[in-house]
Amino acid sequence: MPHHDKFTSVDPRTAQPRPSGYSATAKTLHWLIVLLVLAQFVVVFLMPSIGRDTVLEPLITRHFSIGVLILVVMAFRWMLRLHHPVPLDTPGLAAWERWLAYATHRLFYFILLIGPFLGWASASAHSLSVNIFGVIPLPSIAAPKASWALTAGDIHTVMMWTLLALIGLHVAAALTHHYFRHDDVLRRMLPGGGTRRP
Ligand code: HEM
Ligand code: HEM
Repeated sequence: MPHHDKFTSVDPRTAQPRPSGYSATAKTLHWLIVLLVLAQFVVVFLMPSIGRDTVLEPLITRHFSIGVLILVVMAFRWMLRLHHPVPLDTPGLAAWERWLAYATHRLFYFILLIGPFLGWASASAHSLSVNIFGVIPLPSIAAPKASWALTAGDIHTVMMWTLLALIGLHVAAALTHHYFRHDDVLRRMLPGGGTRRP
């Protein structure tokens, strides 16, 4: 498909063509993150809660590893997004819907880029070492029992349960667009979709 098919309208602020579709890389990274985050929540539901006397066990190690992997992929995705505008120009959206979609996407980036560091700090405060898939050992970033890092762990927990709620909202929105509004919001995030001509 020729490259210019991705561009259907002009952004009035930049006078640049506005993309109407996500690049293959953006889509791949979106769905890779979906898989990793889902795997992470499966691990969270299976692993013991982390407290004062917790010792490392495989599920906790896996939680740390998947979490750091998510951080790395998100950092890459964020850098990519900074250079490539995202097509949020869905015609017919109410102002509040546009705002909510924008806020949700921003929060996804915020939570997935900041949240892992708070978990890492909490791991250090609990004297649990972080060793990514047993191959890359990371240093500890907080002293054992450091109170700021224990608080960071509480914030990590709240943030990540909020993330799960936001995912619910995001998925409900995607399905509503597809099945009730019959627009191309979901299709443009699917492989092969979204490069529709105007
Ligand atoms: C972005 C990926 C991550 C997600 C979705 C996630 C999710 C969660 C959730 C939902 C909890 C609460 C579990 C409960 O209620 O018992 C939790 C706790 C925890 N996570 Fe993560 N986590 C992520 C990344 C990380 C990373 C990278 C680390 C460490 C390197 C980490 C370390 C911890 C620790 C230490 C706790 C216990 C927190 C405390 O109570 O102080 N997490 N995580
Ligand atoms: C872990 C779960 C998920 C996260 C963290 C997530 C994150 C994101 C983010 C940040 C965007 C903004 C575009 C970008 O920056 O590349 C986005 C767009 C999108 N996501 Fe997700 N997503 C998740 C799961 C899902 C699922 C399960 C679906 C489908 C049922 C979905 C459908 C979409 C669609 C259709 C868009 C495009 C919205 C638009 O262009 O207006 N997402 N997602």
